[in-house]
Amino acid sequence: MELRHLRYFVAVVEEQSFTKAAEKLFIAQPPLSRQIQNLEAELGIQLFERGSRPLKTTEAGQFFYLHAVKLLSNAEEIKSMTKRIGMVERTITMGFVGSLLYGLLSKIVYLYRQQQPHLKIELVEMTTMQQIKALKEGRIDVGFGRLRISDPAVRRVLLREEPLMVALHASHPLLANKEGVYLSDIVDESVFLYPSHTQPSFATQMQSLFSESNLDPQNIRIVREIQLALGFVAAGEGICIVPESARSIQLAHLNYIPLLDECAVSPIFMTIRNMDEGDDIRSLFDCVYQVYDLEAIKYDRTMI
Ligand code: BEZ
Repeated sequence: MELRHLRYFVAVVEEQSFTKAAEKLFIAQPPLSRQIQNLEAELGIQLFERGSRPLKTTEAGQFFYLHAVKLLSNAEEIKSMTKRIGMVERTITMGFVGSLLYGLLSKIVYLYRQQQPHLKIELVEMTTMQQIKALKEGRIDVGFGRLRISDPAVRRVLLREEPLMVALHASHPLLANKEGVYLSDIVDESVFLYPSHTQPSFATQMQSLFSESNLDPQNIRIVREIQLALGFVAAGEGICIVPESARSIQLAHLNYIPLLDECAVSPIFMTIRNMDEGDDIRSLFDCVYQVYDLEAIKYDRTMI
């Protein structure tokens, strides 16, 4: 006896007719009648009163019907519970470069958690190079970073170009330029860049901005991380270039003004394995753009 037999039997009882039950089940009547006969033969009893119109169950048939309904509903429950458990155990692991934590990463991840409550989300801080290796080895499913590093095994999507700002001490004369400054205005300053532990990095990207603008700053100081760089600025030691989102780091005497050069942007990339177009990745993309809409951030989604 299979679940199919129970489903057929329940339909015949509820419709009180083989013809109507066959229509409801989308099968022909002869195979339906045969299945019910097989069931009766297996049980060795009659389930329907012969010749009754409308069709009536025997006492044994009524007993069998009540338990068959229960069994079918249990089977449905098992199916949906198993699916749910399977979903709870799905995990998406995201690698990210530290500087993105000051920007929209936390908002995006929080919204994604709300929209995908069945997904386990894990965050791991790593450099862009480490992200590519981890993607290839299956240790992460998506990477967020700022560097234009290509690899044939991964697909890199430009999410947006984040504007850059200059962090200055409150006493710095350049603060008079409220609307912002150009790279040429800061080339002779003591410029703090970060991070120092890896190459290429955000520091390398900023140095390229100067060289592409034919500027040669003589006083670049590369420190371990952004907090250290901004701490030096707050102490009046120099200035620092940061992504706009780093404005959320507030220290006494620390001020931010825009960097106005057209090239003064830092890209933000989302990197995935080639061909990895699952629902979780697609809904993560959607979530990023929903946050951009909420924050009125411009983007070009045609790049996906
Ligand atoms: C953003 O600031 O645009 C961003 C940060 C982390 C992940 C994705 C986007």
